[in-house]
Amino acid sequence: MKILICFGTRPEAIKMAPICLELKQRNIPFKLCVTAQHREMLDQVLDFFELIPDYDLDLMTPNQSLNELSARILKEIDVVFKKENFDIVVVHGDTTTSSMVALAAFHRNCKVAHVEAGLRTYNKQSPFPEEMNRQLTGRIADFHFAPTLKASKNLLKEGVENSKISITGNTVIDALFLTLKKIETGYSNEFIVDLKEKVNFNKKIVLVTGHRRESFGDGFENICNAILEISKNSDIEIVYPVHLNPNVQKTVYDMLSGKNNIHLINPLDYPSFIWLMSKSFLIISDSGGIQEEAPSLNIPVLVTRNTTEREEGIDAGFSFLVGTDSAKIIENARKLINSFKTKEGNKNPYGDGDACEKIINFLEEYTLE
Ligand code: UD1
Ligand code: UDP
Repeated sequence: MKILICFGTRPEAIKMAPICLELKQRNIPFKLCVTAQHREMLDQVLDFFELIPDYDLDLMTPNQSLNELSARILKEIDVVFKKENFDIVVVHGDTTTSSMVALAAFHRNCKVAHVEAGLRTYNKQSPFPEEMNRQLTGRIADFHFAPTLKASKNLLKEGVENSKISITGNTVIDALFLTLKKIETGYSNEFIVDLKEKVNFNKKIVLVTGHRRESFGDGFENICNAILEISKNSDIEIVYPVHLNPNVQKTVYDMLSGKNNIHLINPLDYPSFIWLMSKSFLIISDSGGIQEEAPSLNIPVLVTRNTTEREEGIDAGFSFLVGTDSAKIIENARKLINSFKTKEGNKNPYGDGDACEKIINFLEEYTLE
């Protein structure tokens, strides 16, 4: 059985790295291909997890359009499929890389396993284009690794056979636990040293991230206006690692530069981001992965989106959907900066850190024999 693992962006890499490590640990051979839909942000993750791709398609171009990128992925991954007859490709989540690699695999009669399957808003415009990427990949996939019961129910509703679904938890928690363990045993790096110098950690830290396409323009401007207002509270420090997408960079740097308690910095590598999260009081973000990680650190997240496919975190009292309405962001931030408590006993609904073990067990049972 020839296995290909393929991903292209930072979050996919974080969530697929522990699968690669688990395969290595069990001495199961596989090849790793990165499309490099992201470049610097992907390489940071490959470095930390010490993963060396067998194929690097090196596809990222500045401010790439969805169609250009899709076309390049289809063309270049086909060279890999032509060269080696893979039996199964494992893809992740909702990116252009996942959906285009799944489609290319289908064209080549190669089976597809989908990690983080079954997340849905059933709104094509939000998140855009991720909702359609998920649905497309879900239609093509032969095996579906659903992180939660809710995600598995979506797949069943869409007619996927129960025997092709495994509920595993999210692999992001596996990655998080691996990383926290390293940090607890003294791991540090130049980003962490730099943060300790720049940021006053005696104040309450508000961590901000954002990158969703559906919020470009007015949405991002509203979020920045809210951050400016929140920064008037002198008891807090805002740290904002700004995503490298030029549509994000321009608005954020234009609107938030030059304030002494707003630190605009480059994307952090994964361990230093986790370190910073662990020191934070509140997170304001539209990120999927961060909504999943934060409950393990008991930190509330204001989700700056109108819809979320991660309702479990809201139900468990860790995330709050506030959209991109400035007033709503400010009001909720003020409340949470004053106090945050979830119901006693509420735990992270996205997993216990054993998702990769479950995924590889399932693959061994169904495909490797
Ligand atoms: C992509 C994914 C999104 C995922 C997000 C995670 C799609 C359609 N979008 O969005 O689902 O949540 O990644 O961050 O698959 N750039 C760099 N260096 C990098 C990364 C990006 O310079 O390492 C810049 C480039 O100009 C690039 C642009 O950002 O063209 C956009 O990258 P792209 O992957 O197309 O979109 P994201 O907004 O990053
Ligand atoms: N992250 C990181 N550095 C940063 C910001 C985020 O390593 O500067 C990590 C974060 O811990 C999470 C993932 O990147 O695991 C989220 O990626 P992103 O928000 O880009 O994408 P999404 O999860 O929304 O698809």
